[in-house]
Amino acid sequence: MRIEEINFDMPINLIIAQERMPYKFSQCSFDNYMPDEEYPSQRDVKEKLEKFVYEVERFNTKKCCGGIIGKITRKRLKPKHVYIDGGFGIGKTHLLSSIGNAYPGRKIFLSFSELMYLIAYFDLLPLVEKISRFDLLLLDEFELDDPGDAMMGINFIRELSSTNTIVAATSNTTPVSLGGRKFDMLLFKERIGSLIDYFQTFAIDGKDYRIKKLTKVRHGSSKKTLMDLFKEYKTGSRDKLYVGFDDLLKKMRDVHPVRYINFNESIDAVFIENLRKFTDDELLDALRFTYLIDVLYYGSVDIFISTDIQLWDMFSDDLKDGKFRNKIMRCLSRLSEKGVFVDTNS
Ligand SMILES: Nc1ncnc2c1ncn2[C@@H]1O[C@H](COP(=O)(O)OP(=O)(O)OP(=O)(O)O)[C@@H](O)[C@H]1O
Ligand SMILES: [Mg+2]
Repeated sequence: MRIEEINFDMPINLIIAQERMPYKFSQCSFDNYMPDEEYPSQRDVKEKLEKFVYEVERFNTKKCCGGIIGKITRKRLKPKHVYIDGGFGIGKTHLLSSIGNAYPGRKIFLSFSELMYLIAYFDLLPLVEKISRFDLLLLDEFELDDPGDAMMGINFIRELSSTNTIVAATSNTTPVSLGGRKFDMLLFKERIGSLIDYFQTFAIDGKDYRIKKLTKVRHGSSKKTLMDLFKEYKTGSRDKLYVGFDDLLKKMRDVHPVRYINFNESIDAVFIENLRKFTDDELLDALRFTYLIDVLYYGSVDIFISTDIQLWDMFSDDLKDGKFRNKIMRCLSRLSEKGVFVDTNS
């Protein structure tokens, strides 16, 4: 498949009508979440979240809440939003998706970055109106580092809190040093201010599952070209895409990021030829690329890349140390986890 063949025209309203969890987490459930008994918070949070699902269900059962008395009862029954904080790779998104998979009513899963792009696309209040049609918003990776984005997210939740939609959010843990952990509950409380009264907060501790170094990327067999890997790759229900890095960047400029989700509808794997370092004036391209990797990660799309640089070097040091550090580190980490690299130096 070539990039021109991907249909990016899915109506946006359909994009935010999807009730399923992302491909990568579609099978996650409370049953297959295995708490590490060394860390009692894991079992504890799992049980609290199961109870949360029950409460959201009860809140949305019509027969409990007819008439004026019913309305008052309903207000009393409204569960608080949930904020799940925990280290890198501890199973936060697994648990968030378990909530979504367990809840039988209307729910929507969005990453925080996706939410930012949707607000930019629709504006805050029209988007609140659309999301308020869901009983549950599952919001993954609430980003606090950028004060502007954090404020936008908080304003969104403030407006949404006056509707019947309940939010379950996870923290965004910076994989600064892979295998390291950082809790951001304090920062969350500080940023969210009085809105904290609308939340119950849960912290999970434990061991990370991704203890590996960024330099240890999986390399394809050195004798094989990217095209060889492309030809060999057996697709499942979706297609496979072969695209030059610069053509990919160009397409990402032409298509609004809220439509990148169409990649996940179309492809099982992407083969990106000649990845190179982003130049200093390609900040927007670099950010769009990090977002694309987020989208592909959620969509369980396999990623194959040919390049003559080290993965770590694709973003300049200024970018890696600047205000978008979080997004960039997450992108590098996800690429190192998912990507297969063909070194074109040899
Ligand atoms: N306790 C667990 N039982 C079963 N599977 C788990 C558990 N913890 C993590 N996983 C699996 O490990 C992978 C990583 O978990 P997940 O993505 O939910 O972690 P996370 O805390 O959201 O990480 P990140 O900080 O990267 O967002 C997923 O495939 C998930 O299904
Ligand atoms: Mg996660």
